[in-house]
Amino acid sequence: MKILVTGGAGYIGSHVVKQLGDYTKHEIVVLDNLVTGFRESILYGRFVEADLSDWDFVADFMKKEQFDAIIHFAASLIVPESVVNPLKYYLNNTANTANLIKCAVESGVKKFIFSSTAATYGEPDKKYIPINEECPTVPINPYGMSKLMSENILKDASYAHKGFKYVILRYFNVAGADVGGRIGQSTKDATHLIKVAAEAATGKRDKILVFGTDYDTPDGSCIRDYIHVDDLASAHLLALDYLDDNDSDIFNCGYSRGYSVLEVLNTMKKVTGVNFKVEITGRRAGDPAELVADNKKIVSKLKFNPKYNDLELICKTAYEWEKRLEAK
Ligand code: UFG
Repeated sequence: MKILVTGGAGYIGSHVVKQLGDYTKHEIVVLDNLVTGFRESILYGRFVEADLSDWDFVADFMKKEQFDAIIHFAASLIVPESVVNPLKYYLNNTANTANLIKCAVESGVKKFIFSSTAATYGEPDKKYIPINEECPTVPINPYGMSKLMSENILKDASYAHKGFKYVILRYFNVAGADVGGRIGQSTKDATHLIKVAAEAATGKRDKILVFGTDYDTPDGSCIRDYIHVDDLASAHLLALDYLDDNDSDIFNCGYSRGYSVLEVLNTMKKVTGVNFKVEITGRRAGDPAELVADNKKIVSKLKFNPKYNDLELICKTAYEWEKRLEAK
């Protein structure tokens, strides 16, 4: 297959490109505007520097290239930013995705793998935890809504255009780095817990803040389902094959196991041997108390078989990548 990977220079996209190159013979084309991605993270394929907001370019490009499949990562993804700048999210994430889907349908693309998020579920009622794919989708921020709208566009397009199929992957908390140390999360001004903790462990930050210990959880800090980026990447390869013999579908991507913020920080301290400073502060706006996936569907239907379901390994690979970044 000839596959377009949008956002393939980013954190998750680059791990998928790595696996496509390592394990398949597919022809890979990466499109990225390099606003948040890094050219050196793309280990395989042909690189095209372009922006999905250039709709004329995208239409010509897709017509010319004749892709069989698209894996679409390119998006804005910082929740608090989406609250203060929602239009950026609706344009970058929803409008550009609608155009990409239009060009995909018109140019005969058969498979579309879409990066979605647990943020589409909003703040689920306790009775829905762990969260399966039937849980109501009620986003509580523009980021989650921009992704949910894209999901709906994809569903409607697929219904109207038979032969155009999709898999929507709803990511829980993605963390860690390539165990071989080739790539990792290089995001500037990171906000994600494990990345920030790894930065504290290397000394790049003098402390880490815990946003609230007054939640209705056993230790009072928020609980999340942390999935290793290479396990998440493997789900994309499975999804591509799945569409050969199956209809479009939606899958939650996680391990069905949650850890609290304090547990994560203690694990990072344990695996690095660094007792970095931890300061408890108030809640961060928009944080649900608990988000844990029910992964039964992805395990049974996609045959998802995680290899790195181990918080210590996730923290260790994140830390090792951080040390590499520091040495650059
Ligand atoms: N946290 C801290 N201190 C920090 C950073 C984070 O205490 O310095 C806490 C947060 O308050 C939260 C938890 O760690 O309770 C996880 O926060 P992250 O910022 O790492 O991730 P989020 O859960 O906010 O969001 C991520 C993705 C979303 C996705 C969600 C799904 O960014 O797209 O996971 O669970 F929807």
